[in-house]
Amino acid sequence: MRNFSYQNPTKLIFGKNTIAELANEIPQNAKVLLTYGGGSIKSNGVYDAAKKALGSRVVFEFGGIEPNPRYETCMKTLSIIKKEGIDFLLAVGGGSVLDGTKFIALAAKYQGEDPWDFMCGKASSPSEALPLASVLTLPATGSESNANFVISRDSTQEKFGGWSPLIYPKFSILDPETTYSLPVKQTANGIVDTFVHTMEQYLTFPEYAPLQDRWAESILVTLIEQGPLIIENPNDYNVRATLMWTATMALNGLISRGVPEDWTTHGIGHELTAFYGIDHGQSLAVVMPALWKNQFEKKKAKLAQYGNRVWGILSNKPGQEGKDDIANLAIEKTEEFFESLGVPTKLSGYGIAAAEAAEKISKRFEARGLTSERGLGENACIGPKEIREILCPKTL
Ligand code: NZQ
Ligand code: ZN
Repeated sequence: MRNFSYQNPTKLIFGKNTIAELANEIPQNAKVLLTYGGGSIKSNGVYDAAKKALGSRVVFEFGGIEPNPRYETCMKTLSIIKKEGIDFLLAVGGGSVLDGTKFIALAAKYQGEDPWDFMCGKASSPSEALPLASVLTLPATGSESNANFVISRDSTQEKFGGWSPLIYPKFSILDPETTYSLPVKQTANGIVDTFVHTMEQYLTFPEYAPLQDRWAESILVTLIEQGPLIIENPNDYNVRATLMWTATMALNGLISRGVPEDWTTHGIGHELTAFYGIDHGQSLAVVMPALWKNQFEKKKAKLAQYGNRVWGILSNKPGQEGKDDIANLAIEKTEEFFESLGVPTKLSGYGIAAAEAAEKISKRFEARGLTSERGLGENACIGPKEIREILCPKTL
């Protein structure tokens, strides 16, 4: 097991009717900016519950943060924050609202000219941020309990991730009842996103970390078991609650401690979203199985472990051949699982021409200086050539 440090300062408040806790958690004299998305919180009662709990506090509002939150939109908040002396941000919504608000928290304190500079690596991240908290309405990203955020820029079709210890939410409220109103597609995307986050901290090569492996496997088994249940019965509280807690656990920084990681699927997936606008979860469902096929030799030992422990695939052939069978079957099972949730695993399922996407995206990584020797993945060997093959295997 590798050396690591672990600190997660976010307080989590979980369960029914917990939005009322805002009354106790936000300082009474705070000047709050409540941020939200396209309006789901207004039709499912979450907005009303939050406003009620905020009581007599001074609250300003900013709506319209879109899925894959845009830099251009988030920047509009800075003038309100300055003019009104806002000193607390409350994000109410899905991962996009939370991520957009994390960016705003940093941008509001940024001393340089353009906050995009710290997104694209031209400048270092600000040394101060506004405090923020969240009411989560979509289990998927783990943003409620981590220090990551991902921002898209319309004008350049770019999507970049950032990280800063300053933007861990002070607290996050997780009321599973807020997720009853999710469209099936978003519930399914959230399950895929959670699944892939877990995999990116697990599906590399064997490292002596049996507890971390078992944690990851328990998350995967839980998703495989609970996913179909929620599609059948979207108003089952216990299943909703399980999915919400599972998504938080998958990306709160715990399961990756001491083990190798491979975030290639997210890296390529962000480009698919930036160029073609497909949902985050959809992009991952396409890339991850294709990545595994491309990197089969390097990943097959862990794929076999996954197939065996998570899917219960037992080979009757002894030795390495048998293991390859398990590994191959594990990839097939994963594709079937995503497809069963209604999330296609091929670019054609989204009307995207694979050859064109492969060309555009591999060129972009090439321009950023990626090579097969200094590339993505646990072995840093995924460069533009491999990315082209992953997105369009037939061009091999
Ligand atoms: O905008 P509203 O009207 O709220 O509608 C949203 C949106 O249309 C809707 N929705 C959310 N909660 C709802 C609801 N509709 C009905 N009832 C509810 N309770 O769902 C749609 C999608 O919302 P969004 O926030 O975009 O989804 P998600 O939570 O999947 O977030 C995706 C974003 O998070 C980033 C992704 O790249 C993407 O930009 N990620 C952030 C991460 C992080 N911070 O750690 C890690 C992830 O890997 C991911 O990259
Ligand atoms: Zn994700």
